[in-house]
Amino acid sequence: MRKSSIFAISIFLLALCLTACDSGDIEEHGYSTASGGLTLRFRAQLSSQNDWEETGYGIVLAGFSDQSSYAVLQRPIPLASMNGEEMEMVVSNVSNSITTMELAVTNTLRKRIVTFRTVSLEAYKGRVDTIDIDLGRIDVGLSGFMQQGIFNQACIQCHGGNGRKAGTLDLTDGMALQQLIDVPSSQKPGYTRIVSGDAEGSLLRMILHEGGENLLNYNHTEVLSSQFKESLEDIKNLIDEWINSL
Ligand code: HEC
Repeated sequence: MRKSSIFAISIFLLALCLTACDSGDIEEHGYSTASGGLTLRFRAQLSSQNDWEETGYGIVLAGFSDQSSYAVLQRPIPLASMNGEEMEMVVSNVSNSITTMELAVTNTLRKRIVTFRTVSLEAYKGRVDTIDIDLGRIDVGLSGFMQQGIFNQACIQCHGGNGRKAGTLDLTDGMALQQLIDVPSSQKPGYTRIVSGDAEGSLLRMILHEGGENLLNYNHTEVLSSQFKESLEDIKNLIDEWINSL
């Protein structure tokens, strides 16, 4: 009789302990997730001719808060994985302060220069499972940077978008390179839109820089500064890098 009641009591205590431990576990789990932040698994097929190696800039997956153009966290993408094959990268501990994750070009100070893709994290708030994000196929070389970062952002509204082709120049995807590289200017006799390997000799560069105000009927010198307020010098450097790499 005594033995069995001791047994019953120990079973009861054991059960109590197990439930207590169990609920403790759940609480702890919830807590660590809140402080650890989101876990994101990115997939992408990235291609580049290793253009970035010597430039002082890098292709990264970076988290930004609304207030700043400096990345709160960033993970460099290894050059070896920019070979056009499917790659996967897991980024964990993405804290609440981060509102977007971006596939971007940043400089050595982690400042955002241009963005290839943006993923808003608003919809994922509070998720504890691993979130899969497919970024698709992206050219992250200098030509891809020019198309997605510069032409699509700052030029196609006049050059090719909405059916308008100012200066008979189409800068939309698939058209830009063939219309620019070693093609004579339609507006300025004796000039070439882009002279491959020669940034300074290229009309495109001249019109975007100080001194190029009167080369064409439309002054392009404010086009970049109005779009890229904080990264203007970096953008100009990268345009030179691109032309010189052609
Ligand atoms: C607000 C409209 C507008 C925007 C934005 C614009 N352009 Fe233009 N662009 C023009 C016009 C208009 C001409 C033709 C000027 C002329 O007739 O002399 C031109 C001409 C050119 C030419 C010379 C073409 C030739 O054959 O001579 C180049 C190169 C050029 N733009 C590049 C750019 C680039 C690069 C951007 C973006 C960074 C850009 N433009 C943004 C309006 C624009």
